[in-house]
Amino acid sequence: GNMFAALTLVFTVCLTATTADSHQHPCHSPNMTGQMSVMSLKGEIKTHGAFTYDSTGKKLRFRSNESHPTNTSLGLDLLMFFDKGVFYEIDSKNQSCEKKSLHSVDHPLDIPDDAKFCTTVTTGSASIEGEGLKVNMWTGSMHNVKGTFNMFVTMGCLPVTTLYSTDSTSFLFSTMEVENEIKEPDLLMVPSFCEHQPLEETPEGTVNSFFNEFVLTFVMNSV
Ligand SMILES: *[C@@H]1O[C@H](CO)[C@@H](O)[C@H](O)[C@H]1NC(C)=O
Ligand SMILES: *[C@@H]1O[C@H](CO)[C@@H](O)[C@H](O)[C@H]1NC(C)=O
Ligand SMILES: *[C@@H]1O[C@H](CO)[C@@H](O)[C@H](O)[C@H]1NC(C)=O
Ligand SMILES: *[C@@H]1O[C@H](CO)[C@@H](O)[C@H](O)[C@H]1NC(C)=O
Repeated sequence: GNMFAALTLVFTVCLTATTADSHQHPCHSPNMTGQMSVMSLKGEIKTHGAFTYDSTGKKLRFRSNESHPTNTSLGLDLLMFFDKGVFYEIDSKNQSCEKKSLHSVDHPLDIPDDAKFCTTVTTGSASIEGEGLKVNMWTGSMHNVKGTFNMFVTMGCLPVTTLYSTDSTSFLFSTMEVENEIKEPDLLMVPSFCEHQPLEETPEGTVNSFFNEFVLTFVMNSV
């Protein structure tokens, strides 16, 4: 769609830019609560849900919302601890969970420290009051997953859109209704029914990352 056309255009601009300020360092997003949509490059909405992010503790919760009015194909409830390198796949209805090793620090809410500044663009209109959003674009390679990312963040470092691309697939993560606070701190705590969960063994060749949770086709709750 148009979104991808726009992203491709910006990416092309980035590759050919010679004036990009290579000394600029990535900002880090604040604590946040918001909504996130995940779309495949084919235009299929994979999932939509709510996130809570602790930028100090590097903790992220994402819960897909099945009552969202669009059809989605993936139901997920993830609690990730990037500093500890573990995450939980939670099934609240079933009061069950799986605890797994996390092999990549990448996620769409924070720019990796080694990202490269690409460009600043205004989406919408730069000249009509209130009709534009000025964003910085950062680009780089994913960690432990063969692929690249392009992240668009506001001047205040709120994530807007992240495009992850590998040889075989691309996903667009978009955030909405972002608020600069953690509204429900309990969402970042391990649920009591998961507390004594043993760490699952990682099958050989598997890389667990936030991105891969959306790529792998284990459809947990088909809607
Ligand atoms: C983010 O939230 C955590 C948990 O409530 C808190 O410890 C931390 O100080 C907050 N960080 C900022 C930058 O407000
Ligand atoms: C799920 O989506 C519905 C409809 O958009 C909304 O009313 C509800 O608050 C959402 N639930 C959560 C937990 O975000
Ligand atoms: C969701 O999918 C079902 C079955 O494929 C279809 O009948 C329905 O119209 C879809 N709803 C929306 C909102 O796209
Ligand atoms: C609950 O979890 C068990 C084990 O993971 C699974 O076999 C079962 O199908 C689940 N039940 C429901 C209702 O989701």
